[in-house]
Amino acid sequence: MDSNNDGIGDLQGIISKLDYLNNGNHDSLGIDAIWFSPFFESPDYDYGYDISNYREIDPRYGKFSDFMQLLEEAHKRNIKVIVDLVVNHTSHLHPWFLESRSSRFSPKRGWYIWKDGQGKKNRPPNNWRNHFFGPAWTWDEKTEQYYLHSFLSEQPDLNWSNPEVREAVGDVIRYWLDFGVDGFRLDVAHHYSKDPIMRNNPLFFTGWKDSLVKVLLDRTFLAGLMKLFALPTMQIGKYNQHQPETHEILKGFRSIFNEYPGTTSVGEIMGDNAELIASYYGSSNDELHMNFYFEILHLRWKAAAFRRCIERWEKALPSGSWPANALSNHDIMRAVSRYNNKRGDKRARLLMLMLLTLRGTPFIYYGEEIAMKEAKLSREELRDPVGLKWYPLHKGRDGCRTPMQWNGGKYAGFSKSEPWLPVGPDIKSYNVREMESDLQSLLSFTKKLIWMRKGLPALLEGEYKSLIDKASGRHCYYYLRETGDQKLLICLNFSLRRQEIYMPGRNAVGRVLISTLYDRDLKPAITNPFVLEGLEGCILKLQTGK
Ligand code: GLC
Ligand code: CA
Repeated sequence: MDSNNDGIGDLQGIISKLDYLNNGNHDSLGIDAIWFSPFFESPDYDYGYDISNYREIDPRYGKFSDFMQLLEEAHKRNIKVIVDLVVNHTSHLHPWFLESRSSRFSPKRGWYIWKDGQGKKNRPPNNWRNHFFGPAWTWDEKTEQYYLHSFLSEQPDLNWSNPEVREAVGDVIRYWLDFGVDGFRLDVAHHYSKDPIMRNNPLFFTGWKDSLVKVLLDRTFLAGLMKLFALPTMQIGKYNQHQPETHEILKGFRSIFNEYPGTTSVGEIMGDNAELIASYYGSSNDELHMNFYFEILHLRWKAAAFRRCIERWEKALPSGSWPANALSNHDIMRAVSRYNNKRGDKRARLLMLMLLTLRGTPFIYYGEEIAMKEAKLSREELRDPVGLKWYPLHKGRDGCRTPMQWNGGKYAGFSKSEPWLPVGPDIKSYNVREMESDLQSLLSFTKKLIWMRKGLPALLEGEYKSLIDKASGRHCYYYLRETGDQKLLICLNFSLRRQEIYMPGRNAVGRVLISTLYDRDLKPAITNPFVLEGLEGCILKLQTGK
């Protein structure tokens, strides 16, 4: 929400909408925390993910006092505040880097990764490529060495093997914790440390067999293709990601977090398999509090794909660890559009039910609650460097970053002037004002579900167990969520047809607490078999013992 009508969302805008997020009553969304993408000073080559000052708010978003007010107003409403910790790299305009590149003898030279060129042709030190496009090395004319960047050349990688860097970042973490933030999201933490002797990465075709096996095993579609072709780097990140030292760094972070009770962390750690990613929780829960499992963002619309994916993740997680679940974020096409077809709305409800009933902390991406769709932008409208480079092959990430749709007006109620990105499609029907008054809307469903969830211990902290039913297992995904005396069965019908489902136990009796179909009659007791309508999802409360 843009408070001063310059077309860019800002902190005062957010403050004005906190009551929508949670005002303590069931007419608000009822969320408990906000993860903010970075609002620190940044020249915005990668929309905030290139930070030039970790201790200041970018003036476009407000003043430091606005941040303090936001923190206070959020806390008043029992909303925790999670900020984005982007410390694999800084901006090339960060004073640390300016100093580092000023001379080979600068005291900060070793804060970044500098190397000589190779051979007569002065080629880059190795074959590593950055994630966006081209080599991961850029030549610095003045000091005649290459520096490393896993993303844009405007995002030089910090040298995490340098203890001074660790200390400086530790200070940044403490700085924000001292002001009262509640946690951090750790940007690309699998990239922090690099192979000490900087070996070449294997090229994708040397690893294609391995990748193919994974594609077949995972039965995931997009992720499979991405893996198979190792796009867009055309190589496997064997030596510039997931180095063992990363665990030490995360342990260091965790010990700082532990000095501030109640602090949480969630990692953006991507990797080939669930075990690897789960390893960042630490062998004795001494690394990340949570990590996203990105596999779930790349599945086909198949009940079994979701079931297998979650089973793999649950199995890989060390005992006592806590999942983080997200179906959309600022880097990928919005879920409702990924799974869009004429049944988009019904699918959106099913996804929301799943998101809010899986074990762990659900992350709702802004606008997901109103089924906001991916915008199709023209070349001229793009801002994201990824889209600008790859268009039309890849349109970048702007399509999921368009203004929140507060109402059906010209700029969706986000701003009075033209926003930095155009508004998305169908804003006349998909906006907060319209959907708030419609009891059958996804927004009303989401609110109801979030508030209901708060009162169901089995959903908040119960065990997870998926069930397979021979007859409908291909079409439905079911799981139990269970605490000592509460047993819930969540059943999600991914198919268009009615499906008969069986609650566990021949004489089981249950009651429907909520259904994605607004007109389901919740009164009657349910016995086996129970009929789910096409694309319907339900929470059944099962009668337990005496
Ligand atoms: C993460 C962020 C993404 C950013 C990249 C580089 O993947 O989510 O938006 O471009 O890191 O910082
Ligand atoms: Ca503004």
